[in-house]
Amino acid sequence: MRSILVIIAASIIFSISDDTVEAKGLDKGVGPYGEFWKPIPTQRYWAPDYFYTPPEEPKGVYSEEECVACHKALNPGLVKAWEESNHANFDKIDKIQNYQNIDSRLAPVTNPPYAPIGKLQDYQREKLAEIEKHLGKKLTAVGCIDCHGKIGAEKLDHAKELVMPSAAHCGECHKQEFEEFESEKHYGIPDWKPGRESHAKAYDANLDVDVWAAQDKNIVQGCDMCHNIQHKCDSCHTRHAFRASEARRPEACQTCHNGPDHPDIEYYRDSKHGSIYFIEGNSWDWNKQLKDANYISPTCQSCHMYYKGQYSHNMVRKAIMGEGDVLFYDNIFKGIKPTDYIKNSKELQSRREAWIEVCVQCHSQRFSRDYLDSMDKASDSIFHYVSDAYATIKSLYEEEILYPMPENRPKAPAPVIEKYPDLLGGFYGEFWAKGGNPSRIEKDFLYMWENDAFLVRKGLAHMNPNGFTYISWSNLLKKYVDIQSEANTLRRLAALEKKTKLRSKKIREKK
Ligand code: HEC
Ligand code: HEC
Ligand code: HEC
Ligand code: HEC
Ligand code: HEC
Ligand code: HEC
Ligand code: HEC
Ligand code: HEC
Repeated sequence: MRSILVIIAASIIFSISDDTVEAKGLDKGVGPYGEFWKPIPTQRYWAPDYFYTPPEEPKGVYSEEECVACHKALNPGLVKAWEESNHANFDKIDKIQNYQNIDSRLAPVTNPPYAPIGKLQDYQREKLAEIEKHLGKKLTAVGCIDCHGKIGAEKLDHAKELVMPSAAHCGECHKQEFEEFESEKHYGIPDWKPGRESHAKAYDANLDVDVWAAQDKNIVQGCDMCHNIQHKCDSCHTRHAFRASEARRPEACQTCHNGPDHPDIEYYRDSKHGSIYFIEGNSWDWNKQLKDANYISPTCQSCHMYYKGQYSHNMVRKAIMGEGDVLFYDNIFKGIKPTDYIKNSKELQSRREAWIEVCVQCHSQRFSRDYLDSMDKASDSIFHYVSDAYATIKSLYEEEILYPMPENRPKAPAPVIEKYPDLLGGFYGEFWAKGGNPSRIEKDFLYMWENDAFLVRKGLAHMNPNGFTYISWSNLLKKYVDIQSEANTLRRLAALEKKTKLRSKKIREKK
C-alpha cells in the first residue's frame, strides 16, 4: 500500500514539475493559448526561459575581465552594483587570514542596513563552503559569465551563448533556496489549480488567462512584470546587488503586492505592525537571518516564510484564501460558505494552526485565535452579499433583460469563450470592453468579487481596521446598491417596453 502511495506521489510530483519550455524567439507564444498571441521584444526579459535570444552585436568571444571593462563603460551603474555585492568579493575574504578583522580591512558600505563589502557572516561562509563543495572548486567570485553564460566558463561568445539567468540557473549554486522555492508547486490553495497560487507557478497563472492572451501585450506585459517571479530570482533580491538584507524588508514585496486587487503593502503599512516597522525598522539588523532576527513587530517575510519553527522560500504553506478564487468565486456557485468550507478541510485547519504559531510569538493564543476566527466569520458576511449579487444578475439574464444581452453585443476576442450565465461579470471584463460588453452591472459585480470581497478578508488578515471597513466593506456595499438599483431600472424599463409593445415577447429563441 505504502509503495503504491509513493509511486502515486512521485508521479504527481514529476507531472507537476514538468515545465515544458518551448519557444525561443518572438515568433510564437507559449502556454495553453500560445497560438493566439505573439510576444513583444520586452517579453524576452520578462520570460527569458521562453523568449530570450542574445543581441547580434557585439560579435566576439570575451573573458570575464573584458565583460567588466566594456560594461563599466557602457553601464557603470549596473557594474557598480555587482562590484559592491558579495558575489564579486569572495576573493577578498579568502585573502584575509583573520576573519574577525575583516571590517577594518575593507571599505565599508552603508551599515546598517547593508553589510560591508566582502564581509561574510558565519552562516554565509558555511553556504559558500557548501556551494564550493558542490561545484568541486574554490569560488573567488560569481562573475558576469557565471550568470550570463555557463558557470565556471572562462570565455563567452556574446552573440551566441549569452543568456538571462533563470531561477534554475541561480539554483545550480543555490540548491537549497531553489528547492524551497520550487516546493511551492506542491502546495497552493486546495481545490484550486494544482500548485497555485504560488510564486513557483506565477507565470503559468498568467498564461492560463484567456483575456491576457487576447490583449495588447504592450499593456498586459504589466502582468508579466509581476508574474515572472516564477522564472527569475531578481524580484526580492534585485540585480545586480542580490542582497539577502534587501529581501528581508517588506518593501521588497511592494512592487507586486499592491493595488486594488491585492493591497498587501498598503494594508500592512497602515496596520500597527507596519507602523512599528516604519518607526523603528531602520534600527533593526537586516543582516541577521530571519531565524535570529527577533523583530518586535512582524514583517511580510517573518509571517509568510515561517512554517513550524523554520523559515524558507516556500511562502504558501499557510495560504487559505489565495486571491479569493475559491472562497469568494468558485464556492459562490457551489453555495459553500467560508466558515463551513474551512471547518470541513483538515488541510486548511492545519494551515490555520500554523498561523496561530506565528502570532503566539508576540500575542496570547486566545487573542490570536479569536482574531483569525473573526476573519472567517466576516468572510461569511462577504459571501452572502456576493452570492446575492450574482443571483440578481443571473436572474436578469434569465429574464432576458440584461442590456445589452450577450447575443446582441460584440463577442470578446478569442480565446475568451463566453459561457453564460457562469461568465456574467467574469474576469475577462477587467481587461477588455467593447460596445456594451460587459454591461455596467456585470462590471460592478466583477469589481465586487475580484476586488472588494477579497479586500475585506485581506484587511482583516493584515490587521488594518480601515482596510476591512471603509476601504472595502463600504465599497462592496456600494457595488451591491448599484447592482440592485440597476436591476430595478432594467426591470422597470422592461415592464414599460412590454406595456407599450416596444418589446417583442421573446427577444431570442430559448435554447
Ligand atoms: C566590447 C564591449 C563588450 C564586451 C567585451 C562585452 N559586452 Fe556585453 N554588451 C555590449 C554591447 C554593446 C551590448 C548591447 C548594449 C545595448 O543594447 O545597450 C551588450 C549587451 C550585453 C547584455 C545585455 C543583452 C540584452 O539582451 O540586453 C549582457 C547580459 C551582456 N552584454 C553581458 C556580457 C558578458 C557576460 C560579457 C563577457 C563575456 C560581455 N557582455 C562583454 C558590449 C560588450
Ligand atoms: C548573480 C548573477 C548575475 C551576475 C553575476 C551578473 N548578472 Fe547581469 N543579470 C542577472 C539577472 C538575473 C538579470 C535579469 C534577467 C532578466 O531580466 O531576465 C541580469 C540582467 C543583465 C543585463 C540586461 C538587463 C538590464 O538591466 O539592462 C545586463 C546588461 C547585464 N545583466 C550585464 C551584466 C554584467 C556586465 C555583469 C558582470 C559585471 C553581470 N550582468 C553579472 C544576473 C547576473
Ligand atoms: C557560481 C555560483 C553562484 C551563482 C550562479 C549565483 N550565486 Fe548567489 N551566491 C553564491 C555564493 C557562494 C554566495 C555566498 C553565500 C551565501 O550568502 O549564500 C552567494 C550569495 C548570494 C546572496 C546573498 C548575498 C548577500 O549579500 O546577502 C543572494 C541573495 C544570492 N546569492 C542570490 C543569487 C541569485 C538570485 C542568483 C541568480 C541570478 C545567484 N545568486 C547566482 C554563489 C552563486
Ligand atoms: C502588481 C503586480 C501584478 C500585476 C500587474 C498582475 N498581477 Fe496577477 N497577481 C499578483 C499577485 C501578488 C497575486 C496574488 C494575490 C494574492 O493571493 O493575494 C496575483 C494573482 C493572480 C491570479 C490568481 C493566481 C492563480 O494562480 O490562479 C491570476 C490568474 C493573475 N494574478 C493573473 C493576472 C493577469 C492576467 C494580470 C494582467 C492582466 C495580472 N495578474 C496582473 C500580482 C500582479
Ligand atoms: C519573495 C521574495 C524572495 C524571492 C522570490 C527569492 N528570495 Fe531569496 N531570500 C528572500 C529572503 C527574505 C531571504 C532571507 C531569508 C532568511 O533570512 O532566512 C532570502 C535569502 C536568500 C539566500 C540566502 C543568502 C544569504 O547569504 O543569506 C539566497 C542564496 C537566496 N535567497 C537565493 C534566492 C534564489 C536563488 C531565488 C530564486 C529561486 C530567490 N532567492 C528568490 C526572499 C526571496
Ligand atoms: C502578522 C502576520 C502577517 C504579516 C506581517 C503579513 N501577512 Fe500576509 N497574511 C497574513 C494572514 C494571517 C493571511 C491570511 C491567511 C488566510 O486566508 O487565512 C495573509 C494573507 C496574505 C496573502 C494571501 C495569500 C494567503 O496566504 O492566503 C498574501 C499574498 C499576503 N498575505 C502577502 C503579504 C505581504 C506582501 C505582506 C507585507 C506587505 C504581508 N502579507 C504581511 C499574515 C501576515
Ligand atoms: C515580482 C513580483 C513579486 C514579488 C517581488 C513578490 N511577490 Fe508574492 N506573488 C507574486 C505573484 C504574481 C503571486 C501570485 C502567484 C500566482 O499567480 O499563482 C504571488 C503570490 C504570493 C503569495 C501566495 C498567494 C496565495 O494566494 O497563496 C504569497 C504569500 C506571497 N506572494 C508573498 C510574498 C512576499 C512575502 C513577498 C516579499 C518577501 C513577495 N510575495 C514578493 C509576485 C511577487
Ligand atoms: C513579532 C511580534 C508579532 C507577531 C508575530 C504578530 N504580532 Fe500582532 N502586534 C504586535 C505588536 C507589537 C502590536 C502592537 C500592539 C499595540 O498596539 O499595542 C500588534 C498588534 C496587533 C493587532 C492590533 C491590536 C490592537 O490592540 O490594536 C492585531 C489584531 C494583531 N497584532 C494580530 C496579530 C495576529 C493575528 C498575528 C498572527 C497572524 C500577529 N498579530 C503576529 C506584534 C506581533
